[in-house]
Amino acid sequence: MRVGLAVVAGLVVAAVSTLAWAQRPGSPRAVFEAKTLPKTDVEKSILGVIERVGREQRAGNMIVPEEDGRLLRAWTEAVGAKNVVEIGTSVGYSGLWFCLALKGTGGKLTTFDIDERRSAMAKANFEAAGVADIVTMVLGDAHETVKQLKDPIDVLFLDADKAGYLDYLQKLLPLVRPGGIVIAHNMTPNMADPRFVEAITTNPELETVFLHMDASGVSVSVKKH
Ligand SMILES: C[S@@+](CC[C@H](N)C(=O)[O-])C[C@H]1O[C@@H](n2cnc3c(N)ncnc32)[C@H](O)[C@@H]1O
Repeated sequence: MRVGLAVVAGLVVAAVSTLAWAQRPGSPRAVFEAKTLPKTDVEKSILGVIERVGREQRAGNMIVPEEDGRLLRAWTEAVGAKNVVEIGTSVGYSGLWFCLALKGTGGKLTTFDIDERRSAMAKANFEAAGVADIVTMVLGDAHETVKQLKDPIDVLFLDADKAGYLDYLQKLLPLVRPGGIVIAHNMTPNMADPRFVEAITTNPELETVFLHMDASGVSVSVKKH
């Protein structure tokens, strides 16, 4: 009985102190919404372009939210990626987040899009950020152009035609190395292709988690060792 009371008292104290901390003026929101902090001048310069592209080119170009860009960067750093493949370049916003990680890991990005106008904008953005040397852009229908890929993939990011995700997965999963990851965007129930969801949740080769489901929805599937 005494132990039970002590546990309850402990929980009450913890709850009260958390509440007090959460209500301190200016602290909690700022902590949880803290921005990416540049570690080097290279990061600072890439982040500057990311901020500008996010502000000026978001409309009409279907780029990922900032929180998803940060997630892409974090996973890429975490797996020490040397080879990132992205389907759906748009104006290069998510690609810039990948490059933020790849500058640190010494890796490269190969990114595919079918749209000439957006690809030209992406090229200019990669140049402005000083990352053009680690980016290969491929213009055309990615269902065809990905067939040229041969090297092991550390991170595969799907963010193009949603009905095409399953085809991209079937073509490229064999190239994803053990411990590599497949990330797919727009994975909320109303946006995702059910055939793709089934493919990444019923394959015992993969461990899939879903993140940011209250926003755009992102799946992360780790290819097991
Ligand atoms: C959602 S946007 C990509 C956004 C980008 N990942 C970002 O966050 O900055 C989708 C892109 O996929 C491209 N796309 C659609 N179908 C395609 C296909 N079959 N092959 C290549 N690109 C395609 C579109 O042109 C568009 O630029």
